[in-house]
Amino acid sequence: MRFFGKPKPAGEIDFNRLPRHIALIMDGNGRWAKRRGLPRTAGHAVGAENFRKIATHCKNLGIEYLTVYAFSTENWKRPAGEIETIMGLLERYLKEAISQMERDRVKMKVFGDTSVLSAELQALIAKTEEISQRFEGVQVNICLNYGGRDEILRAVKRYAEDYANSMAPELTEESFGRYLYSADIPDPDLVIRPSGELRLSNFLLWQSAYSEFYVSDTLWPDFTTQELDQAIIAFQQRDRRYGGV
Ligand code: IPE
Ligand code: IPE
Ligand code: MG
Repeated sequence: MRFFGKPKPAGEIDFNRLPRHIALIMDGNGRWAKRRGLPRTAGHAVGAENFRKIATHCKNLGIEYLTVYAFSTENWKRPAGEIETIMGLLERYLKEAISQMERDRVKMKVFGDTSVLSAELQALIAKTEEISQRFEGVQVNICLNYGGRDEILRAVKRYAEDYANSMAPELTEESFGRYLYSADIPDPDLVIRPSGELRLSNFLLWQSAYSEFYVSDTLWPDFTTQELDQAIIAFQQRDRRYGGV
């Protein structure tokens, strides 16, 4: 595990100062598989399993919001077979989630343009979001065909549509935020990127303005609950100034 600029944090999680919202770029599935001589798709399957484990851990810790990057607007550039596998895993995950979410009390939402997904996937998404409305609990947002720039453009277009025939009120950061997929959700306090890349890759561009970053070399399928704890401890040692002194 490599830490960038800061030593490995020591200590324990302070449960009175948990990040409310953690965002996670689930990256490195392909490299994980390649290192084992397996097809990239095998990495996605193990990555999906790991997502379940980490989401449960976040819920048990008391994290209110978890937003995960599952498929970007740029990921359509990949081979058709790989995309099919990823979509298949998402379907399977949503089916399982539907049968368990009442028991687990996990609310789910999908961020992204779902209109181009298969009818089956769209129906599963609608069903999970509908069930989610019935209860309170940790909220997991799955970014699927999501791009930060695409999200901002859509918001602008929807705003323009809303006021096409009437006087538009002044646009503020707050009112604009209501046009984003993340409407009503606080910005992520902590953005985690496993797999060693030092970039956002079009993730939550608007929302991560003042997020703390945690990057590590661990590939997503190997990312453990212990490392998530380390990321939270590192986060709790940061001094968030928001431009102040
Ligand atoms: C993340 O793992 C999953 C998706 C982007 C869908 P990758 O597939 O990007 O894995 P690497 O980065 O090639 O190792
Ligand atoms: C970001 O990972 C998208 C997801 C994890 C879903 P990528 O693997 O697509 O990002 P790049 O291509 O390395 O920037
Ligand atoms: Mg990648």
